[in-house]
Amino acid sequence: MLIGGFGTRLRPVTYSVPKQLIPIAGQPMLYHVLDLLPSDVEEVVLATGYKADVIEAYVRAHPPRWPVRTVTEAEPLGTGGGLKNASEGLSDPFFFLNSDVIASVDLAAVARRHFAHGGIGTMTLTEVEDTRPYGVAALGENDRIVGFVEKPEPEVAPSHWINAGIAIYGRSVLDAIPAGRPVSFEREVVPGLLARGLFGFRLSGYWDDAGTPERLLRAQRLLFDAGRGGPGGLPAGSLGQGPVALLAGASARGASVGPYVTLGAGAVVEPDAHVENSVLMDGARVERGAIVTGSLLGPRSRVRAGHRVSGQVLGENAEA
Ligand code: GDD
Ligand code: MG
Repeated sequence: MLIGGFGTRLRPVTYSVPKQLIPIAGQPMLYHVLDLLPSDVEEVVLATGYKADVIEAYVRAHPPRWPVRTVTEAEPLGTGGGLKNASEGLSDPFFFLNSDVIASVDLAAVARRHFAHGGIGTMTLTEVEDTRPYGVAALGENDRIVGFVEKPEPEVAPSHWINAGIAIYGRSVLDAIPAGRPVSFEREVVPGLLARGLFGFRLSGYWDDAGTPERLLRAQRLLFDAGRGGPGGLPAGSLGQGPVALLAGASARGASVGPYVTLGAGAVVEPDAHVENSVLMDGARVERGAIVTGSLLGPRSRVRAGHRVSGQVLGENAEA
């Protein structure tokens, strides 16, 4: 799994917390991706870079169901370089996952389709209106991918089916990635794989890339609506409506919370405040009478009494 980006579109929160550890619908993004893995996966390899130590420490403290190994880049190597750098010991085939996507996908079914067509890889695809932030596939017979353009201008996008960031590849793709330098898998490697049989697997159901503030909150709503939120329930003594996910020590007595809220560990919403469609990270505080909507409040940030915050991202310790 690729987990080495800087999370620039989620700054200033990502100056202190890697985006994959931002909680949505009650658990870090990374763990929503891990939840997709079939139980017979032997090992998870995390290709880390930015804030690798923070990710490693978190994963050690919250071990997933599979053994996890991290391979860290000294310098960012991009999506292809990161894969190449972490490729020793990968199975054949291996799942190749971005760590910032949420999806309804049966990876065992993706693997079955992969074995059935016998090509080099199977990329899951999802249909979106605005293809600009994504890699876009042109599909041929039997959903073979016959063209692929990363982040095209709308007029040259070959379809609305985009790379969902979840795929399975045979190990021989690794030979197509130059070693020792940054490589974009999508721009430099995928086009060369088309002749070797790259097939699309169309997803139905929800999907999102949680890499921007708006999409992160949309991903949280999708997860809650799909019943993948938690741990939860409304905090004791609070008003408002779920779904709400509540981490250890969070409180909202006398406040109105929800819908679609994650309250991180030790987060506090004071009486008469209102929070909806937002994420409060660990120790964030919304003071009396304040109103927070559509926002991501970083660790130990504070919204002052009576203030109104809408559509904002507050960094660690920031005040609004
Ligand atoms: N190890 C490592 N090294 N990982 C990286 C690096 C790096 O230098 N750069 C990015 N990553 C990781 C990110 O943490 C993320 O999990 C994944 O690679 C993809 O990077 P993003 O920066 O989130 O890419 P994107 O969202 O613009 O585009 C990608 O995802 C789309 C779907 O969400 C592409 O794969 C698109 O084709 C795709 O449509
Ligand atoms: Mg992304």
